[in-house]
Amino acid sequence: MPRKKNGGLAGLVEPDRVHRSVYADPAIFEREMDHIFHKTWIYAGHESQVPKPGDYYTVQIGRQPMIMVRNKDRSISVLYNRCPHRGAMLCGDRHGNAGKAFICSYHGWQFETDGQVRSIPLPQGYEGTRFSTDNPDCNIKRAARVGSYRGFVFVSLAEDGETLEEFLGDAKVAFDDMCDRAPKGEVEVVPTCFRVVQKSNWKIFLENQLDALHPSITHESAGRAAQIVEKDIAKRSGKAPLDYHYLSAFTTPLSKWDQVQTVNYPNGHCILQGYMGLRPTDPDTLEYEKVMRKHYGKDRTEEILSVNIHHVLLYPGLSVQSPLQQLRAVRPLSVDRTLTEIWHFRLKGAPEAIYRRALGYYNLVNSPATMVNADDLENFWKCHQGLASDGGDWVSFHRNAGQDDDDEGVIKSRFGTSEAPMRNQFRAWSDMMAGA
Ligand code: FES
Ligand SMILES: [Fe+2]
Repeated sequence: MPRKKNGGLAGLVEPDRVHRSVYADPAIFEREMDHIFHKTWIYAGHESQVPKPGDYYTVQIGRQPMIMVRNKDRSISVLYNRCPHRGAMLCGDRHGNAGKAFICSYHGWQFETDGQVRSIPLPQGYEGTRFSTDNPDCNIKRAARVGSYRGFVFVSLAEDGETLEEFLGDAKVAFDDMCDRAPKGEVEVVPTCFRVVQKSNWKIFLENQLDALHPSITHESAGRAAQIVEKDIAKRSGKAPLDYHYLSAFTTPLSKWDQVQTVNYPNGHCILQGYMGLRPTDPDTLEYEKVMRKHYGKDRTEEILSVNIHHVLLYPGLSVQSPLQQLRAVRPLSVDRTLTEIWHFRLKGAPEAIYRRALGYYNLVNSPATMVNADDLENFWKCHQGLASDGGDWVSFHRNAGQDDDDEGVIKSRFGTSEAPMRNQFRAWSDMMAGA
């Protein structure tokens, strides 16, 4: 193994290859939690998950169990899920409504939804001690920073650092594209999400999101089966529903995938251009476009609907598919276990048929029940098994290395199957891991 310097990492990441230990070494995973997941902005959830005062949703941010909660003034707080008395978790449920206060189930301390202590049973027991209700240590600890962009709530556990706007940068197009497609300019979450625990390191999932080399190989059988049925339906009835296209698109030949561009930002965010042609001319779509024109006018509607994105990856924890109103949040659990939360959204003001389209993609492609997701999960597990073995030390990201265009630090791949996104993710990873 290369000699470790600079936080133990020097020599593990080269521009076109990385050492397998970055996926398999538990000590590196711990450093990732401290230097990446406890510092940068991590997606907590969507505001519509907590519509009413007192509504809460629990979420894992790095190693920390947290609570996202709606306050009575409509603001949102994100709190550590820990009672300041003797440390019990305050919310054991995934989600619910706290009413006016969080009440600890152990000794009954009560807290406002913004974390402020409200009451302590037999408070005189604390008289003369340094632990009375005016001591801020009696409040539930809050996330250092909370920010929201178009309803998507992010948390940073570090006091200092770039703002949420700076963190999102050009990748905020993920949320603009999704929300702009709603006639009312907003989306709302559909309760609840799929949760999948994959048996691999978290970075394997993120690399896969913009890996245009794998779909027509990994998902070939699922794509081909759908294509046969799609053609058959089209022959009999003129046109098959768009649902079949979601799957048959996986038969797109490699030469076509190579024409799709990726744009890679210095902080690891990446955009994969669209390839599926998601603007059909069926009556439902035409009706939707009519509603859009009513809200936005003709020119703006054209501008919105011609945005052509398939994936936006917000490094290190979020993959957004804006034209299909879905996202996957990545929650590393351990060096070889990763939870993904798979959510989908409704476009406010759009006809129901347009929601059914998002639901179709959610169930057919992103659901853990589909062949598509199962194929990926098997590869993730196989990758981790191989990388944890002594069968070789290096992981290759050589594909089209040296052939990307560098536009003032923004890497634009000339080829869709270039491993530019993976090289770029490790560029950002190295920067974050080397930091104090
Ligand atoms: S641990 Fe919460 S009130 Fe005692
Ligand atoms: Fe895949």
